[in-house]
Amino acid sequence: MQQINVGICGLGTVGYGSFCLLKNNAQEISRRLGKSLRVSHIATRKLREHQDIGDVKLSTDPMQLAADPDVDILLELIGGTDFARELVMKAISNGKHIVTANKALIAEYGNEIFRAASENKVMVAYEAAVAGGIPIIKILREGLAANQIAWLAGIINGTGNYILSEMQAASRPFAEVLKEAQQLGYAEADPTFDVEGIDAAHKLAILSAIAFGTALHLDKVYTEGISEITPEDIAFANELGYRIKHLGISAKTAHGIELRVHPALVAKQRLIARVDGVMNAVLLHGDAVGSSMYYGAGAGDAPTASAVVADVIDIVRRMGMLEEQVPALAFQTEDADIRILPIEEIISAYYLRISVRDKVGVIAKITEILGENGISIDAMIQKDPDMTGGNHEQIPVIIMTHEIQEAVMNKAIEQIEALDAVTDKLTRIRVADLQD
Ligand code: HSE
Repeated sequence: MQQINVGICGLGTVGYGSFCLLKNNAQEISRRLGKSLRVSHIATRKLREHQDIGDVKLSTDPMQLAADPDVDILLELIGGTDFARELVMKAISNGKHIVTANKALIAEYGNEIFRAASENKVMVAYEAAVAGGIPIIKILREGLAANQIAWLAGIINGTGNYILSEMQAASRPFAEVLKEAQQLGYAEADPTFDVEGIDAAHKLAILSAIAFGTALHLDKVYTEGISEITPEDIAFANELGYRIKHLGISAKTAHGIELRVHPALVAKQRLIARVDGVMNAVLLHGDAVGSSMYYGAGAGDAPTASAVVADVIDIVRRMGMLEEQVPALAFQTEDADIRILPIEEIISAYYLRISVRDKVGVIAKITEILGENGISIDAMIQKDPDMTGGNHEQIPVIIMTHEIQEAVMNKAIEQIEALDAVTDKLTRIRVADLQD
């Protein structure tokens, strides 16, 4: 039986998980392939106590794998971008296929890496970079290849979803739940990537490129995190029939492509509104398939290894067909003219929470500003201050609007914030009208 040699760079959670999966399912995998996979070389700084790699060759320098003639497929599982980029480019120039779980690497340097791979006639696979165990790249690339994708929306950061779910379930503040997520090992020690939407922006840039056939445009993703969301917003949204979810949204419009990560109100009855905890989900709409949703674990050793090893299998299956390779972003021609819309050009309905003093005429002034800007009100909540703590200096007024262009909403918000009776910066959350 032909043998294909795999080198693993990085033996952390995902690296060791992938090693174990390749070992545990070796027989089933070779039945699928008609070839056997052998881990021939591993690079790690230090083996941990529980890690048993048998007699596999071990190095401390991943660059040795990039040069090793005994490695056909290199698994880049070290993370980070600078060294990972150097390693991957070196391995590509040496004719090795690449599998990576590194979303930052692909989102930031994918255009350059894919070009080099195409010139060197090797494959770069990155299923594990987006939504862990959900095979969403393969779904877009293969299963839905006949469709024109209209839009996609995903819960693609498990940590952020865990925090919002806990805030919702027990009316707890953001900072407290974040601390708990860190203790449970969900959030990174520096949680900025998760809670400020950067991790989701990396994943969305990749999903959007593969859905719409564009280059990767990480720098054009509008990114907003969840750190400003309060239990109060969650409670008001609930009263109005919504959940607050942190979404990555990309949609094709007549004017260009929307590319945005931010918290959004999603109607409670939508399937995606019911995705809780650390789970991920991607909902999308294709012209032929209609709406379709994919759900699963977005992180963790075994789910991520599932995606990594599936990529290895995919590469081995295609190894004999290199002259006719499927491009890494799955479109033979990129839509180079397509515009990525700035956030000011999107159209959305909005949730506004405005803190006002209990003064005659303040609501009239706010509604007048909205009216003058052509913004129609869909629903409104104003609580009796004596029923909500008795603070007549900071009464929350909640307004849900109908759809309007973001630039117009920005202008109205500026005018509302300038009113004397408005005490604080207004909270604005976009509404995502996702048909499932
Ligand atoms: N930090 C990521 C998350 C892990 O919370 O989803 C997987 O990319």
